[in-house]
Amino acid sequence: MISDFQDWARNRQARIETSLETLLPSAKFSPEQLHDAMRYTVLGGGKRIRPLLAYAAGELSMADEERVTIAAIAVELIHAYSLVHDDLPCMDNDVLRRGKPTCHIEYNEAIALLVGDSLQSLAFQLLAEYRLADTPHVQLEMIKRLAQAAGSRGMAGGQAVDLASIGKTLSLPELEFMHIHKTGSLIRAAVMIGACCGKSLNDLQLKNLDHFAKNIGLAFQVVDDVLDTEATTATLGKTAGKDAENNKPTYVSILGVNQARKLAEELRHDAYQSLEYFGTTATRLRQVTDFIIQREF
Ligand code: IPE
Ligand code: IPE
Ligand code: MG
Ligand code: MG
Ligand code: MG
Repeated sequence: MISDFQDWARNRQARIETSLETLLPSAKFSPEQLHDAMRYTVLGGGKRIRPLLAYAAGELSMADEERVTIAAIAVELIHAYSLVHDDLPCMDNDVLRRGKPTCHIEYNEAIALLVGDSLQSLAFQLLAEYRLADTPHVQLEMIKRLAQAAGSRGMAGGQAVDLASIGKTLSLPELEFMHIHKTGSLIRAAVMIGACCGKSLNDLQLKNLDHFAKNIGLAFQVVDDVLDTEATTATLGKTAGKDAENNKPTYVSILGVNQARKLAEELRHDAYQSLEYFGTTATRLRQVTDFIIQREF
């Protein structure tokens, strides 16, 4: 079973990589440095968890995988942009990402800003350019979902809370709000957008799926907090211990490692429950969930 999942995941990660290679502008075209930096940032790294979630959610609605590939790439581009900005000196000030120097170290801060801007635009261009859903109405819903997930009521808003929380002790609801926004919203969007590529789901299915996505989005960041304290820089491909160094409130600083891990398990349990309704069509979603909880980087 495990190797079956690994084969499935590797196959889709490879498809994402190949499609990104062709969809990102060539570094031969002007402005060469910006295009080069976009490719440096996006290609050849990352777990591609959000695309895997989109493919797995697409199985619930029998979605065409070519459609899901484009939708998944749009989410991954927003994610990659969020990482470039997250690493800037004015945010987390990190020098290592996906085992390589961060974008602003390899190029410069202005280029890193523009890489983020350009990746975000490219994401929406792709969502608008390709036919991804059965009806234009559903496709517009997908575009709206990603816009909301990336914006001030989603990822960017969560990042603002993160920065405003430096040196503070947050209550658990405050911490949950921050994590659900900065990380959860894009994960949620990946799941819902993947499902939108296929036949339409009924309201109860959508509600269950959204509840699932909300839980694993939070679980993803809880595990990220744990790994920041427990894993090594070499394994993570990013600087370990950064949260404590930057005085960030995290699930580890508030609850401790053991309770944080326990919470991740509870969230997995809740997530699984939301999938009961889908039976075996949700097997891949359960496997990606396990990967999110058990991952080592
Ligand atoms: C890291 O995300 C940033 C967070 C939102 C916690 P990932 O752990 O998915 O990073 P990559 O894409 O695999 O590098
Ligand atoms: C990042 O959270 C969330 C976003 C990039 C939106 P972190 O700051 O914890 O991510 P890492 O640990 O640097 O990957
Ligand atoms: Mg951060
Ligand atoms: Mg960071
Ligand atoms: Mg982190």
